[in-house]
Amino acid sequence: MIATTSSEKKAVRLLELGASDVINYVSTPDWGRQVRELTDDRGADVVVEVGGAGTIAQSIAAVAYRGVISLVGHVAYDTTGMNLLDFTYSGATLRAIGGGSRSDLEDMNRVITAHKLRPVIDRVFPFEEALDAASYLASGAHFGKVVISH
Ligand SMILES: NC(=O)c1ccc[n+]([C@@H]2O[C@H](COP(=O)([O-])OP(=O)(O)OC[C@H]3O[C@@H](n4cnc5c(N)ncnc54)[C@H](OP(=O)(O)O)[C@@H]3O)[C@@H](O)[C@H]2O)c1
Repeated sequence: MIATTSSEKKAVRLLELGASDVINYVSTPDWGRQVRELTDDRGADVVVEVGGAGTIAQSIAAVAYRGVISLVGHVAYDTTGMNLLDFTYSGATLRAIGGGSRSDLEDMNRVITAHKLRPVIDRVFPFEEALDAASYLASGAHFGKVVISH
């Protein structure tokens, strides 16, 4: 699993959590090429795209032939977008991921419980401090989930 971050501190934690490699997307803006180098030019079978339009070109560069790009978020929203010719040559599938139904959530929670998965929780805020939680999330200082309890 190859992870990306702009923070050296987060890079250390990603390696501790099991990432095989971490790429700094600020000092290495063409990180898609580095993913290919790290995978003997094969590319990544699955790319989890949280940047959106601002990072999709690098995701296409990073994805293996006939791999999957799962479009989850848009934190790097801009108008750069994607080159459709590059996307065609990748042979990849671009799949939009959205929140599911309540029963989907319950299914997911059963899988999390059965496999004893432990989500990475950065900080829990009481409900009365929900605005502080939103500001903290917006700061980008967190690593993992920011939770509001009730
Ligand atoms: N579709 C859905 O069902 C679904 C579900 C959950 C979340 N989302 C969306 O997914 C996105 C991420 O959510 P999250 O909870 O994973 O957020 P998060 O924990 O804040 O993670 C955001 C990640 O994006 C990176 N990032 C920020 N700006 C970037 C840029 N310009 N270029 C490249 N990477 C950048 C951050 O890197 P650093 O390590 O440098 O901070 C961090 O690794 C949000 O847009 C959220 O709304 C969608």
